[in-house]
Amino acid sequence: MTSVLSVRGLDKRFGAVVAADALSLDIGAGQRVSLIGANGAGKTTFVNLVTGYLKPDSGSIALDGMDIAGRSPRNVARLGISRSFQIPQLFIELTAADNLSVAVCGARGQALSFHAPAEAPGRRDKVIELLQRFGLGDLADRPISELAGGVRKLIDIAMALARRPKLLLLDEPARYGDRRPLCRPGGGVLPGSDSRRRRSA
Ligand SMILES: Nc1ncnc2c1ncn2[C@@H]1O[C@H](COP(=O)(O)OP(=O)(O)OP(=O)(O)O)[C@@H](O)[C@H]1O
Ligand SMILES: [Mg+2]
Repeated sequence: MTSVLSVRGLDKRFGAVVAADALSLDIGAGQRVSLIGANGAGKTTFVNLVTGYLKPDSGSIALDGMDIAGRSPRNVARLGISRSFQIPQLFIELTAADNLSVAVCGARGQALSFHAPAEAPGRRDKVIELLQRFGLGDLADRPISELAGGVRKLIDIAMALARRPKLLLLDEPARYGDRRPLCRPGGGVLPGSDSRRRRSA
């Protein structure tokens, strides 16, 4: 199996806390992998390390054979890894559609620029199509501040998918108990979920 993501000997410490200890794993194309562990086990740390939000103390992270350890989040995203966040990172005063527009603007092959027009032909259609994939088409023009936690979670995931990533990392996608289907991505998926929630699901 050819690995899309290949991690070897990843270490990360925060003072005396060992958040990643010689962690190694491979994810192949089309594979879905779950990372399960108790609170504080290091699931979010792993997502942060792979996506460049944290730098590893040692170890290697390869995307399609290219070492990406220590690159910036922007650089990693450009190379084709998207992520969602344990706590959705959204523009709270903007509508669901406007949040998705920002993600679509920054999609692969398109540079996000302050000088680019917010409205562009076809962009709204892409945004509505993405929202409809998540059953959220009717909420397009509602501000995020009016939407429930589970819906915000889905919008955060939809934003990650807008980049059409090779690899999608989802941090606790089932949080808030929203039971709608999450997504059908083409690449690998790595949901973070803790064992307590998994047992009670
Ligand atoms: N930036 C940081 N500074 C200091 N300690 C940190 C930092 N990030 C994580 N940690 C610590 O590293 C350990 C792993 O944390 P992490 O958030 O990765 O766990 P988790 O498995 O995602 O937990 P949860 O299920 O609660 O989301 C914890 O002990 C946490 O307190
Ligand atoms: Mg976490």
